[in-house]
Amino acid sequence: MARPTDSALASLTAYETLSREELAARIIRRKADLDAVILGHSYQRVEIQEVSDFLGDSLALSQEAADTDAAVIVFCGVHFMAETAKILSPGKMVLMPDLEAGCPMADFATGDRLRKLKAEHPDAAVVTYVNSTAEVKAESDICCTSANAVEVVNSVPAERPIIFVPDRNLADYVTEQTGRTNIIPWDGFCHVHDDMVLEELEAAKAVHPKALVVIHPEARPELLERADVVTSTSGMVKLAEEHDTLIIGTEMGLVDRVQMEYPDKTFIPLSSQAICGNMKKNTLAKLAWSVDHLQYEVTLDEDIRSKAESSLRRMLEVSGGWRRPESDDEASEALAVGASDCGCR
Ligand code: 13P
Ligand code: SF4
Repeated sequence: MARPTDSALASLTAYETLSREELAARIIRRKADLDAVILGHSYQRVEIQEVSDFLGDSLALSQEAADTDAAVIVFCGVHFMAETAKILSPGKMVLMPDLEAGCPMADFATGDRLRKLKAEHPDAAVVTYVNSTAEVKAESDICCTSANAVEVVNSVPAERPIIFVPDRNLADYVTEQTGRTNIIPWDGFCHVHDDMVLEELEAAKAVHPKALVVIHPEARPELLERADVVTSTSGMVKLAEEHDTLIIGTEMGLVDRVQMEYPDKTFIPLSSQAICGNMKKNTLAKLAWSVDHLQYEVTLDEDIRSKAESSLRRMLEVSGGWRRPESDDEASEALAVGASDCGCR
């Protein structure tokens, strides 16, 4: 049973007086004592990326959360990501260094409003981007991430309408990619990506005309039209491995990450203003506090959690699965997923 350590410092301010090296050493020691895994999104501060056991995009992190053997998951990302880990690994303690690290895009959709829209379109399947609350996932047929949205939408029979929640830009992108005319988009967006503008792209291209332009699908359609590749953050990491010069249209943390991995290559942010303040709420000091004090724990109502789990597991089935159910019960539930009545498969 995990419990706070006797060597925990009394206040966050006390952690903030420690050096980066001291904090990192403390976190790594404590992680081993707790049998904890640190999952970090690529938008995290570099010093958090450095102590993360696993860095990735929303899809990879949710697969890792579903699959880990660790007793404690410490999630360095935003709230919906830690919540997803708890949904998929209910038996584990899931911690977040700062519970206030939310995702404004997720807050565009509420359970009440989604129920109302479903009542207006009773035949529609609900495809929900993981950037959403557990309650909204619980009202959905299947989830998707930016890495598998097209695949997930294609898994819904072509004639069945789709309510796509909550990102209108991603909805627009999948509409264009799939050629479907029956997608009903929610009117939400990510301010970090939606604020990137054509003038910034043109300015970056004028200085680096040969650079490959890679843009996240949360960006506006007029930008995506000009991208060489539209992809999730993990797709961008792969492209950084393969190319020497990239213009990168996403949050700055990803640019920092690839620059750290490939110091001799040239990575130009499409917009240096693209900073997710919520992702940056996590600091090394808060992470050290979190593992020492076992705070802040993510908890969920079991009814909502189990319904949300079904839509997440359907997504994992479509995109190559989660790999190792924890118990026989989970295994049989896994088999039932494909036969559910959502009509997605
Ligand atoms: P990825 O799944 O591509 O990492 O995106 C998550 C996100 O929040 C983008 O803003
Ligand atoms: Fe949410 Fe946008 Fe931040 Fe991603 S970058 S976590 S979508 S606010």
